Amino acid sequence: MSLLRLWFIPAGLLACSALAARALSVDASTHKKDAAVLILGGGVTGVIAARTLHERGITNFTIVEAKGELGGRLSSQSFGAPGKQVTLELGANWVQGTQTGDGPANPIWTLVQKHGLHTHFNDWYGSISTYGATGPVDFVDVFNNAVDAYTNLTIAAGARVDKRLVDGTARTGYSLVGDKSQTAQAMASEYYQFDWEYAQTPEQSSWIASSWGNNFTYNTDVGGFGDDNQMALDERGFKYFIQAEGAEFLQPDQVRLNSTVSKITYSRSGVTVELGSGELLHADYALCTFSLGVLQHDDVVFEPALPDWKQEAIQSMVMATYTKIFLQFPAKFWFDTEMALYADSERGRYPVWQSLDHENFFPGSGIIFGDYSQRIEALPDSQVQEEVLGVMRTMFPNVTVPEPIAFHFPRWHTDPLFRGSYSNWPSSFFSEHHENLRANVGERLWFAGEATSQKYFGQFDMYMRRDER
Ligand SMILES: Cc1cc2nc3c(=O)[nH]c(=O)nc-3n(C[C@H](O)[C@H](O)[C@H](O)COP(=O)(O)OP(=O)(O)OC[C@H]3O[C@@H](n4cnc5c(N)ncnc54)[C@H](O)[C@@H]3O)c2cc1C
Ligand SMILES: *[C@@H]1O[C@H](CO)[C@@H](O)[C@H](O)[C@H]1NC(C)=O
Ligand SMILES: *[C@@H]1O[C@H](CO)[C@@H](O)[C@H](O)[C@H]1NC(C)=O
Ligand SMILES: *[C@@H]1O[C@H](CO)[C@@H](O)[C@H](O)[C@H]1NC(C)=O
Ligand SMILES: *[C@@H]1O[C@H](CO)[C@@H](O)[C@H](O)[C@H]1NC(C)=O
Ligand SMILES: *[C@@H]1O[C@H](CO)[C@@H](O)[C@H](O)[C@H]1NC(C)=O
Repeated sequence: MSLLRLWFIPAGLLACSALAARALSVDASTHKKDAAVLILGGGVTGVIAARTLHERGITNFTIVEAKGELGGRLSSQSFGAPGKQVTLELGANWVQGTQTGDGPANPIWTLVQKHGLHTHFNDWYGSISTYGATGPVDFVDVFNNAVDAYTNLTIAAGARVDKRLVDGTARTGYSLVGDKSQTAQAMASEYYQFDWEYAQTPEQSSWIASSWGNNFTYNTDVGGFGDDNQMALDERGFKYFIQAEGAEFLQPDQVRLNSTVSKITYSRSGVTVELGSGELLHADYALCTFSLGVLQHDDVVFEPALPDWKQEAIQSMVMATYTKIFLQFPAKFWFDTEMALYADSERGRYPVWQSLDHENFFPGSGIIFGDYSQRIEALPDSQVQEEVLGVMRTMFPNVTVPEPIAFHFPRWHTDPLFRGSYSNWPSSFFSEHHENLRANVGERLWFAGEATSQKYFGQFDMYMRRDER
């Protein structure tokens, strides 16, 4: 899974309102424009940016998207042997934090309900089986301890903020709150709490930012939505909510699908976007919503090159990779809980499992999925399948684990349209970097998207100044 990186995107688009105000006041200058605003990328950010412009009375925008449909990292695919297929989510899958009482509602939850998407509560903490090197072994007490340790980590992070102390890694934080997680069971439990969420280790992650991330989603004391996690199980795909939202206001000529941007040229008088086909699109403004990974990999050329401050911001944030591995078997032979945790002596080796063959999800489907890191992307499917089956044979020593009838995992890191799953905040990343990641370059080139959200990562400005200790 991943922390809800969706809910804050509409909030992150305040920039777009400012852009809308300017787009209205542009004087008809130099050469003929194809649109006032080119929205580069048709993920959740691009669609909500378009809606924001539409609401401000700007209709001469065009969404330019490489894929054949809107949705971006909301990516569903039919999976399974013939006659046993189910629509699964290769990307985002959960609405994390919905609404508590009449408190603030997660805007994604609002859209999911508006468009009637089928979801079900996923009990990450109350419905879990535990396994180790010899098969089933009950370490739910160790697991619950890791839940408490993480809460202590976020509280200690808040105390650092109050005392205006600088950030550190989440590993430093864990050590300072007394959690040294060295046994296989403790490491697996910590992974479930931390790495599964941030797609990186505590060593790689900011202590304070990872605490903000948790608090703003789940902690109702600070404006979070509550601890409900809803899993999308709709045969139209999780993407349906944003496609249906777009369909309410987008005209056919406002969307260019199958159009890959190769170059963005910007000047004082406007922007020119070159497509892979060689076609040029001219506009007053461009709003680039491509993933941080795309910007980091030079998949798109900027002319002139982005200024140093922008490049430093882009390269200082991290694009992490979270990979789901799906297997289908002739019949279910595993746990009856929703989740399972496997403690390997190597930290993070195929630790998190979820049964989809469960009354709350897809009963009778014979599908289970696991989780692993970027490492497997470079391996052939056959090798990953062998590793995964090896782990399953360890977890279920008394079962003759059969060959799966279907197997699939997406390669998000290798995909040139994404280059990872979502961003993570390292401890060496400062508030100024984040402001620069979000900032426009000159008057004409603007940026938005998951990695640029200020709300999600919190407002660091007051305590990140090292000289104020
Ligand atoms: C495996 C995985 C699991 C996740 N789990 C969750 C979850 O459970 N809950 C949650 O809230 N979030 C989750 N997320 C994160 C969430 O999906 C993202 O934060 C969100 O979808 C990002 O939206 P965006 O519009 O900012 O970016 P994107 O969706 O990346 O949109 C950018 C668009 O730009 C397009 N593009 C890229 N390059 C070009 C180019 N050169 N030319 C033209 N178009 C281009 C892409 O095709 C894409 O459609 C997950 C993500 C992944 C990958
Ligand atoms: C876009 O629309 C706005 C508002 O109608 C208008 O002021 C502007 O001139 C238009 N720009 C282009 C390039 O058509
Ligand atoms: C996009 O490309 C796909 C695959 O070639 C094609 O099936 C689809 O019709 C195209 N869509 C548009 C809008 O051009
Ligand atoms: C969390 O903090 C409380 C209060 O200091 C402490 O009693 C508890 O042992 C801590 N739990 C863990 C798992 O560190
Ligand atoms: C997170 O929430 C806890 C509990 O409300 C709070 O004590 C802590 O200060 C918060 N952490 C941060 C970084 O704000
Ligand atoms: C596996 O079989 C052995 C021998 O019959 C038995 O002792 C053990 O409890 C079984 N383990 C499980 C998990 O069922």
